[in-house]
Amino acid sequence: MEIVDKTGTCNLDYNRVCKNGFCFDEVKKDFDWYYTGQVNIAHETIDRHANSWRKNKIALYWEGPDNEHEKYTFMELKTLTDKFANVLKMAGVKKGDRVFTYLPRIPELYISAISIAKVGAIFAPLFGGFRAEAVRDRMNDSGAKVVITTPEMKKIGIEEIQSEVPSLEKIILADVPESYKFNDNELSFDAEMTYAPEECNMEWCSLEDPVIMHYTSGTTGKSKGVVHVHNAMIGHYITTKWVQDLRDDDVYWCTADPGWVTGTSYGIFGPWLTGASQVVCSGRFSPDAWYSAIDKYKVTVWYTAPTALRMLMKAGDEVIKNYSLRSLRYITSVGEPLNPEVIRWGMKVYGHPIHENYWMTETGSNMIANFYGLPLKIGSMGKPFPGIEAAVVDDSGKVLPPGVPGNLVIKPGWPSMMRSIWNNPEKYREYFRIPGWYVTGDSAFVDNDGYFWFTGRVDDVIKTSGERVGPFEVESALLEHPAVAEAGVIGKPDPLYGNIIKAFISLKSGYEGSEELKREISGFVKTKLAAHAFPREIEFKAGLPKTRSGKIMRRVLKAQELGQPLGDLATLDDE
Ligand code: WT7
Repeated sequence: MEIVDKTGTCNLDYNRVCKNGFCFDEVKKDFDWYYTGQVNIAHETIDRHANSWRKNKIALYWEGPDNEHEKYTFMELKTLTDKFANVLKMAGVKKGDRVFTYLPRIPELYISAISIAKVGAIFAPLFGGFRAEAVRDRMNDSGAKVVITTPEMKKIGIEEIQSEVPSLEKIILADVPESYKFNDNELSFDAEMTYAPEECNMEWCSLEDPVIMHYTSGTTGKSKGVVHVHNAMIGHYITTKWVQDLRDDDVYWCTADPGWVTGTSYGIFGPWLTGASQVVCSGRFSPDAWYSAIDKYKVTVWYTAPTALRMLMKAGDEVIKNYSLRSLRYITSVGEPLNPEVIRWGMKVYGHPIHENYWMTETGSNMIANFYGLPLKIGSMGKPFPGIEAAVVDDSGKVLPPGVPGNLVIKPGWPSMMRSIWNNPEKYREYFRIPGWYVTGDSAFVDNDGYFWFTGRVDDVIKTSGERVGPFEVESALLEHPAVAEAGVIGKPDPLYGNIIKAFISLKSGYEGSEELKREISGFVKTKLAAHAFPREIEFKAGLPKTRSGKIMRRVLKAQELGQPLGDLATLDDE
């Protein structure tokens, strides 16, 4: 089904811009650095607007969990981030240092992001759902110098592993109760802010200096640090304008947490680069909370994810009747395939189609999208963003004809492409295993009109609720449980979550596989690794299929689970 969408306003004429050879160069003129030569994403995101007619415009509407709310203008955010940048300097942070945040979505998280960039350091946001081992591995991999957190989060994610992160010099604590006793290496966010000078010297950088690092998962090994540079702002900015269709009078809400790339590219930098007002809701998901936020702030542009939309659909149309939702003008979605029925339902209840787009942590900004000006093809990811060259190729790099699925690849060189994997050049090189292309790890096909359709992942990475989970990390956590001898983890298709994590486990002798043990093992992973990365389903097996070299064959487990052909078993160790 194809619909021509008249709800957008950006008037992007795809054929015209493509014919004119649009490239990212055209928008460089919108940044101050184009004229001054002084580069910092924080300047363009906040300070540039604070020095303009937007200074008293609301940049951030913050909605807390218990009806708390706050708002900040661009001018206020400039002052706060100048001050906090001074706090960071005082804490010893220098250009290039890795500064982590491990925070709920409170204003301090957003202030930290900009301030870290202001001092030329690298902002490494950790999802609040992570637990101690995941936090430790990520901080150690990149040699974290400072972490900004709250006493509550420190307790669940940092305390027990702190001594195992030797590089960590300071912990800055926000939201501190009065009774809290500070340790020697701890600073209070609020107390430091009251004394911090307001004048701040911005650390000017080069476009190629790193500024954002997201940890993400692959098939093998621990999570990897994907490094983005200041130059990424070109991609953030132009795609926010054109894919999110964002204008100056919009109130924009991206529901993603900044622990994931959507929450930074489109939940911090992109929208503020365009000068828009954004809403941040820190509470948990509930249909009532979400719909009332839309009405309360008159949200016009809304960026969310398939699992959330499926949950809203499941909650039914009754709950929608209590809300107006009339402010909504443009809706987008990312992270996993968006079911056509959800789009049709969305048109009925929200009065707007949901525009699916496609990208990933490593690409930094939207690559393929259903954006305004293109007839929207329901179920497809859309077309490559102008200036992006995407293709579907076989393993040797041969471009495949329309309709034939293969590797989804992108021609390297766009502004927001990751520049490295922290400390791991081999992992970085793996992305370029097909000569001339960046390899996404996804498979897709192109139709006769040039639209891209997602068909699956070519690797073992699991997408659950749109969040990317590496099977290796889950398996490693499982192996730490005393009862577990071997573990193999797969994604199992699920109507609500997209996929759930399913673990196949063989037990050590002396252990009896019971329902109770399953629950215990699930809970164990949850408290060690992450609240979202635990196996919802566990199956005990006497032995797991392995290669002769001892590698567990997840592919075989998956095929067995789904009742599909087992494929090539030449390497299977049949003992
Ligand atoms: C993976 C990237 C940056 C977006 C948020 C997730 C999957 C993303 C779609 C889509 C089907 C999608 C891919 C991709 N994905 N968008 N529209 N349809 N799958 O970023 O955590 O790095 O995950 O999400 O598998 O590689 P991420």
